[in-house]
Amino acid sequence: MGYIDRIIDESETDFSAVKEQANKAGQLTTLKLDEYLLPGFIDLHVHAPQWPNAGVALDRPLNEWLDTYTFPLEAKYADVDFAKRVYDNLVTELVGNGTTTVLYFGTTHNQANLELAKACMNHNQRGFIGKVAMDNPDQTPDYYRDASAESAVADTETFIKQMMELNKTADIQQTPVITPRFVPSCTPASLKGLGRLARKYDLPVQSHCSESDWENGFALEHYHKRDAEVLDEYGLLTDKSVMAHGTLLNQSDLDTFKERGVAVAHCPISNVYFGNAVLPVSKLLKQNVKVGLGTDISGGYSPSLYQNIRQAVMSSRMLHDGVNSQLDPAQRGTENDAISARNGFYLATVGGAKSLHIKTGQIKAGYLADLQVVKSPMPSFNEETMDQIFEKIIYNASKDDVKQVFVQGRLAKG
Ligand code: GUN
Ligand code: FE
Repeated sequence: MGYIDRIIDESETDFSAVKEQANKAGQLTTLKLDEYLLPGFIDLHVHAPQWPNAGVALDRPLNEWLDTYTFPLEAKYADVDFAKRVYDNLVTELVGNGTTTVLYFGTTHNQANLELAKACMNHNQRGFIGKVAMDNPDQTPDYYRDASAESAVADTETFIKQMMELNKTADIQQTPVITPRFVPSCTPASLKGLGRLARKYDLPVQSHCSESDWENGFALEHYHKRDAEVLDEYGLLTDKSVMAHGTLLNQSDLDTFKERGVAVAHCPISNVYFGNAVLPVSKLLKQNVKVGLGTDISGGYSPSLYQNIRQAVMSSRMLHDGVNSQLDPAQRGTENDAISARNGFYLATVGGAKSLHIKTGQIKAGYLADLQVVKSPMPSFNEETMDQIFEKIIYNASKDDVKQVFVQGRLAKG
């Protein structure tokens, strides 16, 4: 097994290196018989402010869900105390599920976004955090919108500087992220300004791309281009970009992603509800497009990447060998699309780490000691191979089975 092992033998160089890092804080106790050490998970797509709505109104179409449920909730983060309460709870929950690094969308409000960074610092989680930019008056409500393209860009730059300041006292670095919500929410002027900031500060970029027919239709109608092409035109597709969903990316979009080094945050639970399509994960990986895993709270109802690995595997089976043959095969993939639990685990660890350019996601000398100690959730009635134990953990583990979590060797849970 590449990514799971019990520390049995001190002489295994990889594990003694890890143990040494984890022991810096003196907190990694000897593993019990049915406990296993796994790399911590990397969640590539979370809307932190949407946590109070996890599971709400998932039967509504995306644009109606945004207007009726999501924007009114996000607007509440003008209240910093509300932000503190929610963000502390959310970060605790994500860490509790074994997630050590998260790429977060915040809201338009910088004070609330800083509270999210502080919650990550308090709980020893590595956060990548974006001030959401959304200034298009035609697609955003009066009560929740950046006042202008100029202020959307200026506030993003202010947030970058505030984060630099905050990081002076952080043990675990918190990274600001350029975050145009998605093409319909932004004006050409804000997209252009944000592209400029991404270059100026050499920072990660996140957005939604090719998630729904409605979103892609908007780009075609207003720009006469696909949404990936619009983002590319404004310099928002770089090797530090992570685009959520991508279920409707066509081959030409994938070629651009490959060329620019753009990563896709696969959000399999959310895609069941809003995407009406399945990301052909193996097709992307075969073409060397980076792919990681995201919960997409609250488009996805679950904060657990274990749940999302399971859904990624199940959804992939519905594409496999033309089961969905009514879909356009050129766009949605049909052959050999099934992925395994191991592939799903790769997405939640190595795939995410590559997307964010961080040395983690593997238990290896020289890598950050981002770890979870998981108690096997299932009884064992006979001799089992490490593969079988691994699969039983992936399919059955819940938050209570995640006994300890470490980020850079610092205790985050347990
Ligand atoms: N597209 C634009 N905003 C959102 C959001 O908050 N969630 C999802 N799933 N898609 C979006
Ligand atoms: Fe999303």
